[in-house]
Amino acid sequence: MCGIVGYLGDKQATDVVIEGLAALEYRGYDSVGVAFISKDRAGKVVKQAGRVESLVPLVKQQALAGCHISIGHTRWATHGLPNSKNAHPHANNDNTIFVVHNGIIENYQELRDQLIKIGYNFYSETDTEVIPNLIDYYNKKTGSLEQAIRDTLNDLSGAFAVAILSTLEPDTIYAARVSSPLVIGVGENQDYILASDPNAIMEHTKKVIFLDDNDLAVIKKGKLKISDFKANTAKDPKVELLDYDQEKASLGDFPNFMLKEIFEAPQTIKTATLGRVLADEGIIKLGGLESINAQLRYIDRIVIVACGTSYYAGMVGEYLIEELAGIPVEVQQASEFKYRHEPFSRSTILLAISQSGETADTLAALEKVKDFGCLRLGVVNATGSSIARLTDAGVYCHAGPERAVASTKAFIAQVTVLTLIALYLSKGEHKSYRKLLKELELLPEKAKAVLDQANEIKRIALKYKDSSEFLYIGRTILYPCALEGALKLKEISYIHAEGYAAGEMKHGPLALIDKNFPTFALATNSAVLEKTLSNIEEIKARGGPIIALATLGNKKIQPLADEVIYLPETLEQTQPILAALAMQLFAYFVAEAKGLDIDRPRNLAKSVTVE
Ligand code: M6R
Repeated sequence: MCGIVGYLGDKQATDVVIEGLAALEYRGYDSVGVAFISKDRAGKVVKQAGRVESLVPLVKQQALAGCHISIGHTRWATHGLPNSKNAHPHANNDNTIFVVHNGIIENYQELRDQLIKIGYNFYSETDTEVIPNLIDYYNKKTGSLEQAIRDTLNDLSGAFAVAILSTLEPDTIYAARVSSPLVIGVGENQDYILASDPNAIMEHTKKVIFLDDNDLAVIKKGKLKISDFKANTAKDPKVELLDYDQEKASLGDFPNFMLKEIFEAPQTIKTATLGRVLADEGIIKLGGLESINAQLRYIDRIVIVACGTSYYAGMVGEYLIEELAGIPVEVQQASEFKYRHEPFSRSTILLAISQSGETADTLAALEKVKDFGCLRLGVVNATGSSIARLTDAGVYCHAGPERAVASTKAFIAQVTVLTLIALYLSKGEHKSYRKLLKELELLPEKAKAVLDQANEIKRIALKYKDSSEFLYIGRTILYPCALEGALKLKEISYIHAEGYAAGEMKHGPLALIDKNFPTFALATNSAVLEKTLSNIEEIKARGGPIIALATLGNKKIQPLADEVIYLPETLEQTQPILAALAMQLFAYFVAEAKGLDIDRPRNLAKSVTVE
């Protein structure tokens, strides 16, 4: 959620940190700050509410040339309002120790009370401020900054990643993590760049060291020491190579990342299926699953865990896997799964779906079953992310970095990959197997045909932009798509939108319908189309405006709906991908017409790394 960057080396450290923060800003963007040690070895903090760009002139004024060590932070508020007082870095009372922090310190109130009793003052409402003061307390007690940091880390509970800078050791950055990501980039001239997300690093180096839980890194120029702060044992840093495509993270000619990412859909489908779908041979190749073929033979149930859009992709996957492979699937919100006491056997797979690979609840779900002896699989976009590294096997989405907070191309890639998994698990035995392989090859062109209707979808979006609420309905595999369509609209346009199974309308939601309450109905050709059309009739009879998604050539829908968006004909199993694309465009154009900050909707962050 928040972003951490630190740098130590020959370059102007504050420049590197600011650039890194700008690359991470999509993750949290309500306030920003940096701490640095100047040439004369004084420690300084510059911070304020707002975006990274607003901090640049202030930092330039204060951090004169010759500053070679700095840490910085973009914040997504958990404790206290987004203002300059609560922005990171936070310092101890003596202003000698500076800390930036991601995550939540669960026992902060208790630690704060103890520190107040012995004379420490607090100036913010954050949980973070206990950290520099506790380090200060232990430092005064032990006379060793490293030991003080170790003692402090051992006192903290919760999930956190921290970077620490101090005038007491002006050439060192300390960094540590528990259940919150941190990665160290190894630069060319013995310099190091630290970040909570490789996006801030990849411009400088592809050589990285991912910190594990309980790691404490002591970073000096040309010298890196990593130890386990709980066990107090040294570790050998393992250098890995990032395989990110930096170019894809730039905007090109698009006004924002969301539109760019929606328009990447045809390529996203191609990349997700590349080398995996051999339609002519009738083969699905998924290297990640081939390695566990022997174990897959004993599987009798799959539990999918995920959050938000990934959860809805999981629900689509449930329909696909059950239908194509005949394996019972249950989809759970990761935040709920963690606290349930359900029976879980070794023959169940836990399948985690995540774009970022860092979502705290999804990670916690994987941790929960660690000792159950079951397979833990991942459908992850961000390579090298915590979930990718924690799972036994999986299938990457390969959608490239997704920067807009609202997930679009990741959903397309997740559903594509789940279709591949369902086909793989079906062992070619389902009657639609061959047809579906062929259809996956045709799908990028069909996605393009949906994108070609952007102007028409925009016209409809402008007509409905002032609605204050919306209903999305669908049946079977399009039901989770309705949920996803509603999520997209609410998160970027701030219009209250609900997704419902069309068959549920008469059980309550129909009471909401009147001329001011539009419904977005997913009514493409399928075995249940007639049923959905009846539900649309019922809404129309109550005066509710209807925007329908229908299959090209369907004549029945026209008299029922106020507006129709036509999708190319495709198999039922691949309809979610085309339907999602049309709904993404609709939500986008509504938000655009309302003049909202589309890539960074209020109150949200890209990667939800706290529970
Ligand atoms: O990175 P993840 O896929 O694990 O993220 C899950 C959700 O936080 C994410 O999909 C969220 O719902 C998006 N803002 C939806 O657009």
